[in-house]
Amino acid sequence: MTATFSDLQLEEIAKRHGLTLEQVCPPSHEQRLEELRAQLARQDVAYSIPQDVAEKYFQLAKSGAPFGVGSLTDESVDLGEFENHQRFDDYQIAEHLSWACLIVEQQKTKYRYACREYLEGEQLFAIRGTTIPDYYLLNARIYQATGWQLATVSEIIPAELFFTCHSRRFFPVTTFMRQLEQDYLQEPDIGHDVAGHVATFTIPAVAHVMRNHGQARDIVYAERDAKLANASTDEERQKISDWADELLLYAGRIYWFTVEFGLVMQDGDVRDFGAGILSSPGETIFSIDSPEPSRVLIDPANDADLLRLAVTDYLISEFQKTYFVMSSFDRLESLSPERIVWAAKRAMELPHYTWREIAPGDQVINVGRVVTGVNEKYFRLHASDSLDECQSRCAARNLDMIVAGFDEGKDYADLKLPPPLVPRSVVEWWRSRLV
Ligand SMILES: [Fe+2]
Repeated sequence: MTATFSDLQLEEIAKRHGLTLEQVCPPSHEQRLEELRAQLARQDVAYSIPQDVAEKYFQLAKSGAPFGVGSLTDESVDLGEFENHQRFDDYQIAEHLSWACLIVEQQKTKYRYACREYLEGEQLFAIRGTTIPDYYLLNARIYQATGWQLATVSEIIPAELFFTCHSRRFFPVTTFMRQLEQDYLQEPDIGHDVAGHVATFTIPAVAHVMRNHGQARDIVYAERDAKLANASTDEERQKISDWADELLLYAGRIYWFTVEFGLVMQDGDVRDFGAGILSSPGETIFSIDSPEPSRVLIDPANDADLLRLAVTDYLISEFQKTYFVMSSFDRLESLSPERIVWAAKRAMELPHYTWREIAPGDQVINVGRVVTGVNEKYFRLHASDSLDECQSRCAARNLDMIVAGFDEGKDYADLKLPPPLVPRSVVEWWRSRLV
């Protein structure tokens, strides 16, 4: 819910960001239609829209129907209970102002910290501006440049649906705008989805990784369905469904550390391209300048590095503790659906690292102030000392595996070096708790 602000408060906030309330007055329906008409007619684009399709799309917008799922191709996606619509005329001035303030603050940090390709992509979609983008127009622009479309959702959607959208080149977007002057929020809003993600579609390697995550989901679910066809009990069926969802969780970590929170080396400097970072001006600065997080260079074409992403647990509630820096965008092209599924399956068999740890074999750019040793989580758990949710989840999972017979000295062959052995006393303590 948007908090209520007086006109005077709105004026003061606008002024603080170099804006006026006149600037955040949204365009009328007629003005938006005029712009949409011109956009749909463009032929100097990668994906031009046939006249009959454009006319149908225009008439839908003209009718006042709220935007739901892009309809510029025969492809569509069923969003089920998560279906939502953008009702542009319902946005209040405070929401447009929140967008405008975010864009102003983003501009200050992006020019310094974002990679070149991101800045070029942003120009292409013209997502700047002082009012929330009209999704009819934005969807047309995105389609014409990349072949992707928007699908409007009500909240964070399950990984399975998220990746189903990706496999069909639909990007799920929410319709709510964060509170005025809120820098970071864990759930995606228009600021995250549009100001953060949309420009990344124009980076071919990123669009490729996004699509391939969708296709990785298709592989996992085809395998799941084949297994389900041979299952005879509810328990067996539940286990198979859980197995597929766990694989998507680990595949999602690769997406998280690249598309959402990825950094890249560019001309000898570390630069941002992750949408989660770039939609937060605060994290944009933090990700590159702060001594707190660790930064690790990875080559996504290397299996051990890819696996490193899949075995790293994280939280969504605060700034990242470790950032992975891609050696170059070109190397992201290697993330095929098959390699993503391979890494997810291998991650299922291995103990995991937390987002605070440096793993043996990491090519470290800097060790962050918040780093912890890989065994610290076990000792802290044993001593009932404070742990974040990620550390306690990871420690418990790893100890469960070791008690079940995992050999830490041997079974880490896919990683560059085996991790330090978990102290026997802690393993025995954990075993005794399970009895
Ligand atoms: Fe995102």
